[in-house]
Amino acid sequence: MPLLEVANLRAYFHTRNGIVRAVDGVSFSVEKGETLGIVGESGSGKSVTCYSLMGLIPKPPGRIESGTARFDGADLLAMKEAELNKIRGKRIAMIFQDPMTSLNPYLRIEEQLIEPLLIHEKMPRAEAVKRAIRALEEALETFAGCAVIISHDRWFLDRIATHVLAFEGDSQVRWFEGNFSEYESWRKKEIGSAADQPHRIKYKPLAR
Ligand SMILES: Nc1ncnc2c1ncn2[C@@H]1O[C@H](COP(=O)(O)OP(=O)(O)O)[C@@H](O)[C@H]1O
Ligand SMILES: [Mg+2]
Repeated sequence: MPLLEVANLRAYFHTRNGIVRAVDGVSFSVEKGETLGIVGESGSGKSVTCYSLMGLIPKPPGRIESGTARFDGADLLAMKEAELNKIRGKRIAMIFQDPMTSLNPYLRIEEQLIEPLLIHEKMPRAEAVKRAIRALEEALETFAGCAVIISHDRWFLDRIATHVLAFEGDSQVRWFEGNFSEYESWRKKEIGSAADQPHRIKYKPLAR
């Protein structure tokens, strides 16, 4: 049984200017010990997907329109705040891309992990990198959960992620069994050289 199983998640924002369909039917599941890398262009719904699971989308204007998110058997989307509080931070944690309080999206994770070793331990760079990677590998090996990570780090997506959830725009979300390189070569085969061109997400017209 998957540790986390999300089915048909829809999260909309009901704004004064209409409905923003931020997440429109996302399904995926992650087994214990697997690491899911979430990729996709800005505004495609990665964060709202994760916030929804943690009960962190602002309501209003946000609303979970449909779906279930079974975590260890219980539906996160149907949980009362008090129940969710017991899980949040303890069994499910989220590392925000906030340069002031956690990982800085503009710096490679590697740089951030070795910085204290370089500065405080005065360790040579190669040694610091080796130490940091060993610590990460140990943490993931012994971690009795699954990890769901929004990442723009190519190294991470290729070597650590076992699966990819790709937000391809226009509410298309693809589940891929394999790492990011494999996803990319599949995508190239599928849509040809257009895969190399970054494209802007076409937002659905706002419904009133
Ligand atoms: N509080 C909000 N009110 C209205 N729209 C929002 C709100 N938060 C996010 N959105 C919209 O939801 C969509 C998905 O956003 P997000 O999940 O943050 O994208 P990503 O993390 O993939 O860059 C975007 O169109 C964004 O503008
Ligand atoms: Mg985001």
